[in-house]
Amino acid sequence: MSHPLIIDGPERGVLRLTLNRPEARNALTTTLLRAIAEALAAAATDDKVGAVVLTGDQRAFAAGADIKEMAERDLVGMLNDPRQRHWQAIADFPKPIIAAVNGYALGGGCELAMHADIIIAADTARFGQPEIRLGIMPGAGGTQRLVRAVGKSLASQMVLTGEAIDAGRALAAGLVSEITPPELTLERATAIAETVAAQAPLAVRLAKEALAKAGDTDLATGLRFERHAFTVLAGTQDRDEGIAAFHDKRAARFLGR
Ligand code: CAA
Repeated sequence: MSHPLIIDGPERGVLRLTLNRPEARNALTTTLLRAIAEALAAAATDDKVGAVVLTGDQRAFAAGADIKEMAERDLVGMLNDPRQRHWQAIADFPKPIIAAVNGYALGGGCELAMHADIIIAADTARFGQPEIRLGIMPGAGGTQRLVRAVGKSLASQMVLTGEAIDAGRALAAGLVSEITPPELTLERATAIAETVAAQAPLAVRLAKEALAKAGDTDLATGLRFERHAFTVLAGTQDRDEGIAAFHDKRAARFLGR
């Protein structure tokens, strides 16, 4: 059996993770979710990784939790489910994740895309939370992250009807930042990841954390965190290098110090 997650790189600072269960539309088995969490844990401490691109194939980014596996788990099985740990590990990854979404991002697949910092989608992609049709509801952040991403009305419509939205709607609602022709989605996501990976690593890390605060905390707390993070960066060598490079009209050489 082929491995459910293909790991490429890092190349030019970018690690690529490709979901590889095409026969099941990249449905997220626990094994696959664990593989993503473990790959990210390794990338977190690898200085050669500045950003991660997460992608699937042309037909599906991921069609959600693996329904066949889920059917075998009862309430106690759910309570002891290791998946929550894997989701938390993905959420805690300190470096930027850029999702390149082709095809379906449904249920846990849409939730996985929303764990990314930036989503680039093919113009043919579809996003949805169809769990309600299975007699359940989103369980990996769908109700919380989707409301923050697209607002209460559209999120409620998606979660309560189970109907998916197309990429144009996702762009208009702010769920994704760009849409591309399907054959260019991965290329565009990779280019963005390379640009991110070329920046000062400490600044990127703190900026990611500050951006996440915007969805997690009240404005005053978020602004306080931003001010502290901004101040801390004033003590880094990379800040001196960035300013020196600006004066010298050359590209900065950041060291992560
Ligand atoms: N789990 C397990 N298998 C899945 C799957 C899933 N989520 N999605 C698709 N598959 C399998 C199908 O069973 C099928 O397998 P067989 O060939 O063995 O029958 C194969 O993938 C291809 O699927 P389709 O023939 O249906 O492909 P399609 O292109 O016609 O349709 C689709 C694609 C619209 C994604 C459709 O497969 C679908 O609706 N899938 C289910 C989506 C869904 O309900 N996701 C939510 C899961 S629950 C969840 O995500 C909860 C959570 O995380 C907390």
